[in-house]
Amino acid sequence: MNTFEAISQRRSIRKYRDEQVPRDLIEKILEAAMLAPSGKNRQPWRFVVLEGRKKTEFIDLLKTTEKVRGFEGNNTGSFRQTITGMDKAPVVIIVLNAYFDTCIEDGRLNHYRWLTDVQSIGAAIQNMLLHAHELGVGTLWICDILYAEKEIRAWLNTELQLIAAVSLGYADEHPFPRPRKPWKEVTGWLDK
Ligand SMILES: Cc1cc2nc3c(=O)[nH]c(=O)nc-3n(C[C@H](O)[C@H](O)[C@H](O)COP(=O)(O)O)c2cc1C
Repeated sequence: MNTFEAISQRRSIRKYRDEQVPRDLIEKILEAAMLAPSGKNRQPWRFVVLEGRKKTEFIDLLKTTEKVRGFEGNNTGSFRQTITGMDKAPVVIIVLNAYFDTCIEDGRLNHYRWLTDVQSIGAAIQNMLLHAHELGVGTLWICDILYAEKEIRAWLNTELQLIAAVSLGYADEHPFPRPRKPWKEVTGWLDK
């Protein structure tokens, strides 16, 4: 499979077969993440892999938090649906930013550094998705977990900034490609 085939064939997978992903494949997917470019080669990404009992604990935390947010009258969008998909995935990888605290200077956020780190982490996540696809493993990039940011950081006992999660498993669905805007609609091309 060449790179463009991986890019064009990958789909977000929200239904998974009841089958474990071997550890060596998870490690290969993490290796792909490490190969992403990063601003100043800072490699700000950190990962926490959840399987089995810990994954169940994590999903329970999300379910409880989603209910609490609902009682508080918050709109949690697609969070509940996303949790349902994650529940079936054998693996969830939490993605964190190790350097958010270094982006605070004199009490103010240095946007340049922070945006650079967040883009680097996005590149790492995309590498994971593409390599997983190549290895026959389905993935979903998840930001709905940010609704539970405070709770997740407390559960992990971490000061690091929560960025996203990626669920992984063998696909139990074959989604059609979701529509994309043509490049002409989103690109300005200045005259030479
Ligand atoms: C930054 C980011 C956050 C996302 N968060 C979620 C999420 O929380 N729940 C979900 O079901 N899908 C999530 N997605 C998946 C998108 O819905 C999906 O990529 C988009 O609809 C295009 O579909 P495709 O990935 O199959 O091409 C996210 C994707 C990205 C890139």
